[in-house]
Amino acid sequence: MTKAKRAMQEDIRLIDVILELVDARIPASSKNPDINQLANNKSRVILLNKSDMADPDLLEPWMRYYEKQGYLALAVNAKKRNELKQVQSLIQKACREKIERDRKRGIKNRPVRAMIVGIPNVGKSTFINSFAGRACTKTGNKPGITRGKQWIRLNPQVELLDTPGILWPKFENQTVGQRLAFVGSIKDELLSSAELALELISFLKQEYPDTLQTHYQIDETKEGVPLLEELALRRGCLNKGNEPNLDKAAFLLLDDFRNARLGRITLERPVEE
Ligand code: G4P
Repeated sequence: MTKAKRAMQEDIRLIDVILELVDARIPASSKNPDINQLANNKSRVILLNKSDMADPDLLEPWMRYYEKQGYLALAVNAKKRNELKQVQSLIQKACREKIERDRKRGIKNRPVRAMIVGIPNVGKSTFINSFAGRACTKTGNKPGITRGKQWIRLNPQVELLDTPGILWPKFENQTVGQRLAFVGSIKDELLSSAELALELISFLKQEYPDTLQTHYQIDETKEGVPLLEELALRRGCLNKGNEPNLDKAAFLLLDDFRNARLGRITLERPVEE
């Protein structure tokens, strides 16, 4: 087991509930299945983050998909503090049995402890900052139990570990790698921008027809390279001899997608088992 994994296992022992952030545009590909093994008997909440950029029609189906797997699920935008209020009640709900057990044992008002986990760039730091806000207090080290750990007291009932657990994306197959690259979770250098853009074009033409036409005023009946060439010409992505520069056009398309300038788009649908 790697050092990072062992450290996370240690952290998980201290908490009651895991808040797992995934990217709402790729709710499956941005999830690392290893956490299931690490988390085994902890309560689980899954937060579909960046929901402001995801297809609104697919948020509910994805939440239902994860609820069927035993999670409590919610679509969130980590940048909007006021939209995160529901997360607190979700944490309480996830820990209901534990709170009840404590109560029966005569332990009252012991806050439940939560921790954020997720792959890089999914919004963990943004979430912690917004969720914790300014009003909360950081509780210091608690000798004997949580040495070296900082907890953020959100309210008398909930404490959050102030450092997130970083999970590494799992490249189970090429499609997963591609989707992670589409949303910018892995660096472009690993895959050629032009190849990536051509894959995105083919996906958009099939699943979100007219998006390219509307946004770039290009002829969507064209395929692949000719379509990317037209995009380059329309947007002035040219080489010295006024030839279309496909790499520049690819970068522009990917950047527009990543920043939701093409609209709210989700790259994968839940598959019922
Ligand atoms: P991490 O800790 O998991 O690595 O992710 P981090 O919070 O650094 O967030 C990565 C990027 O995603 C940041 O953008 C952040 O603003 C953005 N982000 C996080 N949550 C949301 C969300 O719900 N909606 C949207 N639209 N964006 C979100 P950045 O470009 O790296 O930084 P900045 O432009 O915000 O400064």
